[in-house]
Amino acid sequence: MSDILHTLEVQLPLPEVDRSYPIIIGRALLSDGAFWQSLIAGRGVILVTDDQVGPLYASTLKESLGGVSQLTEVVLSAGEARKDMASLETILDAALKDRHERGSLFVALGGGVVGDMTGFAASCFLRGADFIQVPTTLLAQVDSSVGGKTGINHAMGKNLIGAFHQPTQVVIDLDTLASLPEREFAAGLAEVIKYGLIRDADFFEWLLAQVGALTARDGDTLAYAIQRSCEIKASVVAEDEREGGVRAHLNFGHTFGHAIERLQGYGEWLHGEAVAAGMVIASQISVLRGTLDASIVEKLIAFNRAVGLPVEAPSSLSASDLLQAMSSDKKVSSGKIRYILLQGLGEAAVTEHVTTDDIVFALSA
Ligand code: NAD
Ligand code: GLY
Repeated sequence: MSDILHTLEVQLPLPEVDRSYPIIIGRALLSDGAFWQSLIAGRGVILVTDDQVGPLYASTLKESLGGVSQLTEVVLSAGEARKDMASLETILDAALKDRHERGSLFVALGGGVVGDMTGFAASCFLRGADFIQVPTTLLAQVDSSVGGKTGINHAMGKNLIGAFHQPTQVVIDLDTLASLPEREFAAGLAEVIKYGLIRDADFFEWLLAQVGALTARDGDTLAYAIQRSCEIKASVVAEDEREGGVRAHLNFGHTFGHAIERLQGYGEWLHGEAVAAGMVIASQISVLRGTLDASIVEKLIAFNRAVGLPVEAPSSLSASDLLQAMSSDKKVSSGKIRYILLQGLGEAAVTEHVTTDDIVFALSA
């Protein structure tokens, strides 16, 4: 029997069709046949996974999908390096060869790579099909599965080709986290603490107090951390789906993080690890500006250390290396780098006015 712990709604205001959707958080959801039958409602399914997640969870899910009219399974090679046009084609080829119709549902079973690619495939399959996110990494559960950003990488950079395409459901089965490697788990916690820093001071303090339970993957603690993260992400997306304003706050730590990832060579540091160091840098600059109390940076550093995340950029990288890498980030607008800084704990703001001296200070603090 599955156990649905919490359901929350991502509310999207667009008049012509209601695109709002639920995020369902629970346990043993993958093995609940009745739950899946009601979600699928007789439609064909294109199940997309990768070769690490597939062997762990795909057969359970396929069993639950049981009598679907048409089931196509696509197993991609795992990893960021395969988030490319070739994998996208593999998904679309399989769906077309099996003669799926627009009414079929794509189901993304995996981390953010599978979720982003499957969502993008759904967005362009027969001009747009529905898809369900079944995120299996902590990062995907609290971030990438919610909000409708989908896409693939290009040789020129990450996520340069894609679409906004919202899922019709996000199904978070907490049981899948049991098999997640330690580093991947910690990388997800970086995005969790980000929500506290940018939007919810109480949540930040709660996370600090729960650090032992979090790293021990205590079920109830994780369930609340994921629920609160999804609530915050859902409210930001509801306010600003296309990133014209506050959605940019979700990129706190990411401007520096992307630069670190790029300079290190993708794959050396996980995205969440680079973001963790980036959040420390952005917080140090906020302290320098006088908008953030230095004690918050100390707490953030203590949290990062406790969960096994970096607390600074690699020492081999200079301020000018970072600035140069940031200048070519896709989020650079009209030639200006946009930084997200903290105006206090739980409050973020965008600015373009960060100097090389600010970054030198933050790197040496
Ligand atoms: P990932 O999808 O590469 O997963 C990490 C690794 O863990 C993979 O090898 C995967 O096979 C494995 N894995 C996944 N679930 C597992 C489980 N339960 N047990 C054991 N192994 C498991 O990486 P990720 O961190 O989930 O996602 C990163 C991607 O998400 C990036 O491509 C990034 O651009 C994207 N992203 C998108 C958004 C968005 O809003 N769409 C937001 C943040 C990140
Ligand atoms: N992860 C950033 C966003 O969804 O906007």
